[in-house]
Amino acid sequence: MKSSCLILLTCLLMSCHDTTFVQGKRYYEDLCQSCHMEDGSGLEAVIPNLAASSYIKNNQDLLPCLIRKGVPDTSFLAMPGYIDLTAYEIANIINYINTSWGNNSKVQTINEIEENLKDCL
Ligand code: HEC
Repeated sequence: MKSSCLILLTCLLMSCHDTTFVQGKRYYEDLCQSCHMEDGSGLEAVIPNLAASSYIKNNQDLLPCLIRKGVPDTSFLAMPGYIDLTAYEIANIINYINTSWGNNSKVQTINEIEENLKDCL
């Protein structure tokens, strides 16, 4: 009994120090990685690089809607939309990207995401 409490406590403490948005990472792996790659690097001219990305840096307000609606094909390939994702799930994905692979954008709150999703028709 005591040792299981200790294990639980250790897990809780470790998750407090985990700043990598584990849930967002899982969504990214499931939904985005097949195209944008595990390290965000994309594929040359076909799929945009999301690592150390000026697009990510400069278009924070557009990201929630981009994920929900996808991107029409402007060169070789379109990006599918993810209309079923909740604001919470979108926040997790964006915050994982914002804090990964040399991106350094501030963490977005659910409120900010919801606000930006209002304009997403
Ligand atoms: C089927 C492949 C595919 C999947 C899956 C995919 N994307 Fe994309 N994504 C693309 C392509 C292709 C573009 C560029 C479309 C164009 O402009 O022609 C793009 C564009 C983007 C952009 C804009 C980047 C820029 O520099 O213009 C972002 C941000 C992005 N995707 C994030 C995501 C996220 C987050 C996910 C998962 C929720 C995801 N993508 C899933 C193919 C994909």
